Formats: sequence, structure tokens, C-alpha cells
Amino acid sequence: MAMKSKVLIVGGTGYLGKRLVKASLAQGHETFVLHREEIGVDIEKVQMLLSFKQQGAHLVIGSFNDHQSLVKVVKLVDVVICAISGVHIRSHQILLQLKLVDAIKEAGNVKRFLPSEFGTDPARMENAMEPGRVTFDDKMVVRRATEEAGIPFTYISANCFAGYFLGGLCQPGFILPSREQVRLLGDGNQKAIYVDEDDIATYSIKTIDDPRTLNKTVYIRPPQNILSQREVVQIWEKLIGKELLKSSISEQEFLAIMKEQDYAEQVGLTHYYHVCYEGCLANFEIGDGAEEATKLYPEVKYTTVEEYMTRYL
Ligand SMILES: NC(=O)c1ccc[n+]([C@@H]2O[C@H](COP(=O)([O-])OP(=O)(O)OC[C@H]3O[C@@H](n4cnc5c(N)ncnc54)[C@H](OP(=O)(O)O)[C@@H]3O)[C@@H](O)[C@H]2O)c1
Repeated sequence: MAMKSKVLIVGGTGYLGKRLVKASLAQGHETFVLHREEIGVDIEKVQMLLSFKQQGAHLVIGSFNDHQSLVKVVKLVDVVICAISGVHIRSHQILLQLKLVDAIKEAGNVKRFLPSEFGTDPARMENAMEPGRVTFDDKMVVRRATEEAGIPFTYISANCFAGYFLGGLCQPGFILPSREQVRLLGDGNQKAIYVDEDDIATYSIKTIDDPRTLNKTVYIRPPQNILSQREVVQIWEKLIGKELLKSSISEQEFLAIMKEQDYAEQVGLTHYYHVCYEGCLANFEIGDGAEEATKLYPEVKYTTVEEYMTRYL
């Protein structure tokens, strides 16, 4: 049997990053987690890193401000996965990855790089609206740098993180489902795709030693999880045994409210607009040159929307 790649996770303390560490260990990869010196006295992060160590991961010290420190840690592994932050209401550091790309280029040993993507495919968003397009534009800058450096890659398009979208019944600004009411975005009929964050991590790790995913985009489209907001609401209503009071917000109203928000909020709302009013995640076929995760890895039992939502009962 071929040796499993050694993996470095950058951003391992993050919302997705910690799941990538768990999945990498679970799939039997020797796993290294970058411990940035800048963490300082952030006790939660340090405790999390120590728990990774207890589970068998190696902690490796490095800093985005010290190129040679990054080169040194990259040289320890075969695969680098970055899950650096890219949600403006939390933190957005996507372009910092250019320093990681430089380090991977100099190290010269990396067989696969998965940059921090895990959402809407930025290559399909060249007509995205301001100001939210910054997320896609920055991710494309990182893609170009990766490809120009000749670094082998896989881009994971994970669609909607379930915690954000299902938790809030697809309403921006909510991450817990109401038992009383819901506001539909437009007619609530545009299809989107929801993926349990642990499943995103599992599929991502599956791709790293797979020749079928080399230099490709892998979309995660669990067939049962391609649903409209109305269908998500129906599932929740079935679980709680009650119908919610429904109202609707038109496209024009949504855009007008968006313009009154601060920059970080506007970025997030732009993303909801493309997903919920335009259906940007599900309105295209996956063409040649890309793959779909549930087809590549039918052995993974993914979490359905209904299963995911039972946690809110
Ligand atoms: N599709 C969706 O619905 C969706 C939703 C959310 C996020 N995403 C995407 O998923 C990816 C990960 O996002 P996330 O929400 O999991 O990230 P996050 O939890 O906000 O942050 C992840 C990590 O980023 C690192 N980081 C933050 N500031 C940094 C700085 N100044 N310098 C260096 N590292 C820094 C930290 O790593 P360390 O401290 O461990 O070094 C942190 O743990 C992003 O690309 C994002 O766009 C997609």
C-alpha cells in the first residue's frame, strides 16, 4: 500500500481548521499543525493545539512574518492545507497565503496544496457584486500565485457551511433556527447546497493522495443536501412539528438594507445574495476538469440536512 502523505495544517485552530486536523488524524496521516508564535497568550488556541498533540499531531512553530520558519515547516510534509480565515465578520486574511505560497515554492517538496477556499468557487464569480467580491478576487490571486509557482493543487468548493446556513434557516445574521418565524429571501425557491463542516474536512483529506483530484477543483454536492430555503424550512418544521410564520424580503429590499450596513456585514450579505437570490451554487453543471466529492468517495456517509438539524432540537 502506498504511504499516506504527511500533512501540514495552517490555521488549524480555526472553525474549519480544527476539523481538518481531526480528519487528517482519523484518516491515518502523520499530521503537523502550525503553531504561530503570534498566538501569544490566547489560552483557548494554545489549549486546542495541546489537545491536537495529545491526539497524535505534531505542533510546529512558525510565523507568517518569518519566511524561513515557514519554509522549514513546509519541508517536513508532503501536503499543505491552509484554512486561514476568510469571513469578514470574523477575520479575512486570505492574501497572507501568498507568503505560504512563496515558502512552498522555495521548499520545493510539496506534492499538493489546498489553499483556504472551502466555499463558492471563486473562478465562477467574476461578475460578483461589490464589496463581497473581494473574497473571490483574493482567492483567485492565491490561485494564480499557486499555479504560476507550479505548485500541485486541489481547490475545494464546499458550498454552504451548514452551521451558518442551516443554523439560521438561510437568513443572514442568524445561526439558531427560530421556532416561530422565518424570513424567506425572495420566493425562497433557489437551490443551495449545505455541507456539514466535519464532512467538508473528511472529503478534503480524502482528495490529498488521490490522483483524480490533482490540479482540479472538487465540488462537494451531497445529492440530498441540494435544497431551497423553503425546503430547509420544511425540514425544520417537520422536526419541531409546527409551521413557522413566513414573510419574505424582496431582492430590492435586501439590496437596499445591505447598503446601510458596515463593510464586513455587506461582504457577507453579498454572498447570501448570490447564493439565495441567484442560486450561484447549484445553477451549473460540473464540467470536465472538475470532480464531485460524493461521487469520488461514495464510502463516506455524509450528514443530511435533516440529520444536521436535529442538533437544534
Ligand atoms: N462556505 C461557507 O459557508 C464558509 C463559511 C465560513 C468560512 N468559509 C471559508 O473557510 C475558510 C476558513 O474559514 P474559517 O471561518 O474556518 O476561519 P477562522 O476560524 O476565522 O480562522 C482560521 C484561522 O486563520 C488564522 N488566522 C487568523 N488571523 C490570522 C493572521 N493575522 N495571521 C495568520 N493567521 C491568521 C488562525 O490560525 P492560527 O491561529 O491557528 O494560526 C485561525 O485559527 C476560509 O477560506 C473561508 O472563506 C466558508
